[in-house]
Amino acid sequence: MRLGLHDDRRAEACALAIEAAGAAELVVHARTKAHGYRPPAYWERIADIRQVVRLPLVANGEIWTVADALRCQQVSGCQSLMLGRGMVANPALARGIRAAMWVDQLDTESADLSWPQLMALIAEFWRLVCAHLERDQQTGRLKQWLNLLRRVYPQAQTAFDAVRTFHDPAAVESWFKAQALPDVSS
Ligand SMILES: Cc1cc2nc3c(=O)[nH]c(=O)nc-3n(C[C@H](O)[C@H](O)[C@H](O)COP(=O)(O)O)c2cc1C
Repeated sequence: MRLGLHDDRRAEACALAIEAAGAAELVVHARTKAHGYRPPAYWERIADIRQVVRLPLVANGEIWTVADALRCQQVSGCQSLMLGRGMVANPALARGIRAAMWVDQLDTESADLSWPQLMALIAEFWRLVCAHLERDQQTGRLKQWLNLLRRVYPQAQTAFDAVRTFHDPAAVESWFKAQALPDVSS
């Protein structure tokens, strides 16, 4: 649930109704519909909801970094988090958060994805997009991901600039072919 439609006055009542209806857990996106996706997210309102319900709560909204995640846990009182755009912008974010929460995993799992590693995933994503989406939706879907990735990766800005005017998937295909894609299979 979000905190409400136009305001958050009934957030607790909504959570209680969801609990009464038998939900096993509840994810709270800590904004109203009117807030859209504008920062901030009001994680403290999740702590308010925690006061009135017993069912497990999951905090969501505006978690872009490991530091955001730790602050969200602290403010909301939730151990469990749900990642939206932050995970799209940085596919290694969940791994980084897990490493920060369980420090013994830091050595093996805290590393961010390098751009070459990510580029291999983008190429795989493009292959899936071409296999499953209508032709007129394909370039847009790639641009959506690059658009969020450029928050974290400067190279994604360059890639976004290169493909932003393309509407023909064949042009994107040529662009991919011109990139030196690393072999990251080993
Ligand atoms: C790629 C993507 C897909 C999403 N799909 C859904 C969905 O199917 N249903 C839904 O209620 N919210 C969906 N959301 C919204 C998220 O669940 C989340 O509530 C919202 O993005 C706010 O979190 P954020 O600030 O971390 O992005 C989606 C978000 C993203 C980025």
